[in-house]
Amino acid sequence: MSENSKPPWWKSAVFYQIYPWSFQDSNGDGIGDLNGIRSRLGYLRGGPNVALGIDAIWLSPVYPSPMRDFGYDVSDYVNIDPRFGSLHDFDEFIKEAHGHGLRVIMDLVLNHTSDQHAWFVESRRSRSSPRRDWYCWADGKSFGRRPSNWNARFGGSSWTWDPRAGQYYLHSFLKEQPDLNWQNPSVRSAMWDVVRFWLDRGVDGFRLDAINWLGKDMRWPNNPFRFGLRGYTRQHHVHDRDQDIAHEIMRELRTLVSAYPDVVLIGEAAADTPGGPASFYGRGDDELDLVFDFRVMKSPWHADSFRRFLTTQVPSIPRGGWPTIVFSNHDQPRHIDRYGTEGNAEARARAAALLLLTMPGTPFLYYGEEVGMRNVTLRYSELRDPYTKRFWPFRPGRDPARTPMQWDASAHAGFTTSRPWLPVAADSSSLNVARAAADPCSLWSLYRRLLDLRRTSPALNRGAYRVIGGSPRDCLVYEREARTEQGAIEKMLIAVNCSQRRYEFNLPEVADGMQLLSTNSTAPIASEVKWDPARIVLDADEGQLIRLS
Ligand code: GLC
Repeated sequence: MSENSKPPWWKSAVFYQIYPWSFQDSNGDGIGDLNGIRSRLGYLRGGPNVALGIDAIWLSPVYPSPMRDFGYDVSDYVNIDPRFGSLHDFDEFIKEAHGHGLRVIMDLVLNHTSDQHAWFVESRRSRSSPRRDWYCWADGKSFGRRPSNWNARFGGSSWTWDPRAGQYYLHSFLKEQPDLNWQNPSVRSAMWDVVRFWLDRGVDGFRLDAINWLGKDMRWPNNPFRFGLRGYTRQHHVHDRDQDIAHEIMRELRTLVSAYPDVVLIGEAAADTPGGPASFYGRGDDELDLVFDFRVMKSPWHADSFRRFLTTQVPSIPRGGWPTIVFSNHDQPRHIDRYGTEGNAEARARAAALLLLTMPGTPFLYYGEEVGMRNVTLRYSELRDPYTKRFWPFRPGRDPARTPMQWDASAHAGFTTSRPWLPVAADSSSLNVARAAADPCSLWSLYRRLLDLRRTSPALNRGAYRVIGGSPRDCLVYEREARTEQGAIEKMLIAVNCSQRRYEFNLPEVADGMQLLSTNSTAPIASEVKWDPARIVLDADEGQLIRLS
């Protein structure tokens, strides 16, 4: 980027992840859809009534799918699943989103397709099928053994026997999700046609699913064992993922999308990516623009984990790359409950909102976190996700964090008029957007205020940062700084207490300032108050935002 060019839009944007099944149903079938999302664009961006004020939507998959993995098993990459609408609805949705000033990125599942995809149907027909080598087929070893010991991410072996031509096929997730063979140039060119198809329809970028798995050693060597752990983690996944070819594929994709203006590529990289998720930025300008780093998301509510993010993880990103901040998504328990296991969940969700919207990088909100939606306890008979069912009740699973959006206190929370696909949370009559938006002290109002501040503050949305030493270990203090358009220096200080103790301390090297807000729900700040670094008082799980003089 030259000195004078404008920074790309996604550096100062705030993203909002929509899980299409659960956001808004428009046709009364109990499943969310594109027209439903379209009817809520005013909420997301800015409308006559309640408006959150985000900049971009990440839409989880809406492609036709048998929904074994709820859309991450795609059976046609260039269409819309009828549950969600049609291509026409999609075009209308994009047009209207853009009209609101919202960008839209789609999920792109590159590693695998559905076993119902025409490519796989043809591939499995016979050993001589023209698409045979689009997927990963292998003969068994002697004595009926599988080609290798590889384990699938969702349990069991990664190999499934296909009697048709007497070979095994590879699937790193469910057996209904056969892995593509990315060494085959025809696979790449078919997938790049898909990318062009959506870019030509106006999408603003992609969230790339499970990129660690794109490359595998196709000589199928066994993974080394790892002792003491169970299931997937019982082996070192050195041969079935994390091969260099994944980076080559990212570079190829980057070259392709650079023919389109302003497209963003965001990668989902595993927390244990070799070299850290930052390796998917490549040199900083030749792979991905943004990469999810789930190490923070997998950490407990502890100042050290956020400190580590700022002092180690962010600095490891090569120049040109840009961090992401994400606390919740459709695969993990919602952070309000993860952080709140032993403590005040609500207070922590408030302090987490401050971190999410003031740490350096691009924040991602997961639908409903702005109202404090919880993980919903479900009975086995209510579960839908095969992964959740498989490990129930030993792992929390994913359905509890995918329940319908809580819009209002009406039946089914304003999400649908009929029986929703997953139960609506029992607390939806008290915990919902309509009520939260009317309450100036609610978590929703705090998000809203922080989003406003972030939008108007160059320090918060793109400023440099530094962690300030000298605070108690349970408290994280950092500063953001940038030059405003008028040429003045703007400095913001953020102080968060990640413990249940009250702390009092001083920071001699910090200037004094005005406190813009405290996340403490019992003391919402109506107007700015004087803040003195000689006596900083942070209540349990309290966060403060200060404009320094
Ligand atoms: C990613 C998705 C997850 C999906 C998996 C397989 O991790 O986020 O929902 O099940 O990939 O596609």
